[in-house]
Amino acid sequence: MSILRVENLTKTYSSGGRELTVLHSVNFTLEPGDTFSIVGPSGSGKTTLLGLCAGLDRASSGSVYLNDVRLDTLNEDQRAAIRNQYVGFIFQNFQLLPTLTALENVMVPLELRGERGAGKAAQALLERVGLGQRGHHYPTQLSGGEQQRVSLARAFANRPKLLFADEPTGNLDADTSATVVDLLFELNREAGTTLVLVTHDMELASRTQRVIRIKGGAVVNELVNDRIIEG
Ligand SMILES: Nc1ncnc2c1ncn2[C@@H]1O[C@H](COP(=O)(O)OP(=O)(O)O)[C@@H](O)[C@H]1O
Ligand SMILES: [Mg+2]
Repeated sequence: MSILRVENLTKTYSSGGRELTVLHSVNFTLEPGDTFSIVGPSGSGKTTLLGLCAGLDRASSGSVYLNDVRLDTLNEDQRAAIRNQYVGFIFQNFQLLPTLTALENVMVPLELRGERGAGKAAQALLERVGLGQRGHHYPTQLSGGEQQRVSLARAFANRPKLLFADEPTGNLDADTSATVVDLLFELNREAGTTLVLVTHDMELASRTQRVIRIKGGAVVNELVNDRIIEG
């Protein structure tokens, strides 16, 4: 059973009377526990691809199967339920809710699931990312690296099967990036989560088992354990 299967995925935007195809028939399949990177230059379609994989957006053609459920057969509420059940997210700009404290941000996914003891679980996660003393602080009172650690705690709160990270270190300096990335891989290994990492940093990508390179919305090649397979 695959956790994520992408079949002939194509996305075309129409704007100003013109059609722009930003993804061209992308295919890949991930098994549970795989770690996978998507690398490519800015504008190559990485974020669009992640959005389709997570059911945040609809493909023009082709399909995405998340945990063997075909996303385009579901309505918006059903897709949101699947996301809450299976998926965690990490964004380049953290996307913490500014009116909630660090602790409350981590509690959100747990409360959406109606889990009891959300506060305690969230506190344990904050401790795991080294921010046990910062739970009462608001995002603006935290540095970028600290905000990203809170968002890691939030992403893992649901014990997701699948974690999507879109340029998770894009807004961080080198030292802070290293801390956040080490923590991301550690938490991922502990939880056995399938990781889909988007980056333009080949060194970061090389920490995952598989790497696909995309250019102009098409897969150029795939690296599996450093061996190149032409796309
Ligand atoms: N809503 C949209 N309407 C039109 N074009 C879009 C839209 N979203 C993204 N694009 C275009 O799709 C291409 C891929 O964007 P994106 O997926 O954000 O790339 P990346 O994440 O690799 O930088 C870009 O050319 C971008 O301008
Ligand atoms: Mg992007």
